[in-house]
Amino acid sequence: MMRLLVTGGAGFIGSNFVHHVVAHTDHHVTVLDALTYAGNINSLNDIPEDRISFVEGDITDEAVVDELVAAADAVVHYAAESHNDNSLHDPRPFLDTNVVGTFVLLEAVRRHDVRFHHISTDEVYGDLELDDPARFTESTPYNPSSPYSSTKAGSDLLVRAWVRSFGVRATISNCSNNYGPYQHVEKFIPRQITNILRGQRPRLYGAGLNVRDWIHADDHSSAVLTILDRGSIGETYLIGADGEKNNREVVELLLTLMGQPHDAYDHVMDRPGHDLRYAIDSSKLRVELGWEPKFRNFEAGLASTVDWYRDNEQWWSPAKDATEAFYAAKGQ
Ligand code: NAD
Ligand code: TYD
Repeated sequence: MMRLLVTGGAGFIGSNFVHHVVAHTDHHVTVLDALTYAGNINSLNDIPEDRISFVEGDITDEAVVDELVAAADAVVHYAAESHNDNSLHDPRPFLDTNVVGTFVLLEAVRRHDVRFHHISTDEVYGDLELDDPARFTESTPYNPSSPYSSTKAGSDLLVRAWVRSFGVRATISNCSNNYGPYQHVEKFIPRQITNILRGQRPRLYGAGLNVRDWIHADDHSSAVLTILDRGSIGETYLIGADGEKNNREVVELLLTLMGQPHDAYDHVMDRPGHDLRYAIDSSKLRVELGWEPKFRNFEAGLASTVDWYRDNEQWWSPAKDATEAFYAAKGQ
């Protein structure tokens, strides 16, 4: 049994991780989350009270972080500003949370010698050409494109420096695009599902040929637990489930799954600097730590995600209008 401090545990992937930990271990979880527009306490509603404590607070707040880290056996750090489109509109919170927040956590785990796992993204590696057979590996050079991915890259480099300079016991994982329940409606898949549920057409940026490598959030969670259990200190692990699809394929699949004509979508203005393709080679995690994904059928995983949004309108509808107003103002 471990006492885990999970930052960002009211967000999409953090809340999926908390559900996974409660279902598969006897660890106790303390969530530290600022409940920004992206955090939703209702994502943790059905967790038994004796398994979780919730603290509303900011990871840049040194006093709060110090007290919680001192009481933990390990920290799993999900909290971040996470949306590329927001980072193009207003980068400042990305610097504060992703860079300064990670720094504050690193100083606290250094003071208290607490194990740290840092959650990051494959977007730190930049993008690949559509026709390139290569995939990202742990030795791909960092080359981030957006304010979001550059601040995540900065946070990864801080973790590496704190391992080398101060002996902090940390690991890093860089995961590909996640899908599943509890994802904010600003993101691609939930935006399109909830548009269709509301009788509105999906919106594809540009030609829709950009490729993302999809993984179910529950598989991301099992990979993180595996790294926490068996990962080597100082190492980086890429997490992916061989789920490459272009955005047009995903929208067409969603429309078909939801009983609409497969071409009932609109092309809208492209994202500036839009990364073409992400693709993960997760051999290191699979061979060295023996991890395997469970959701191997993307269509089945997407169908269960559609069901979740259909059944949980009260969870997503409060955020939908403001999100669509933000996109409408940008012609998207
Ligand atoms: P999210 O935006 O859904 O959730 C982020 C959570 O962090 C929210 O609950 C928010 O309230 C909280 N938060 C934000 N700023 C905070 C602060 N200053 N102090 C405390 N809490 C704060 O994000 P997500 O999609 O769940 O991503 C979680 C992590 O996974 C991020 O580090 C992200 O970079 C990484 N990641 C995401 C993806 C993806 O596909 N979404 C893929 C790979 C890695
Ligand atoms: P997103 O979910 O924002 O994740 P990321 O930028 O981290 O990959 O977007 C996934 C892909 O979908 C990306 O190529 C941008 C595209 N996209 C659309 O085509 N339409 C949309 O409405 C959104 C939000 C994204």
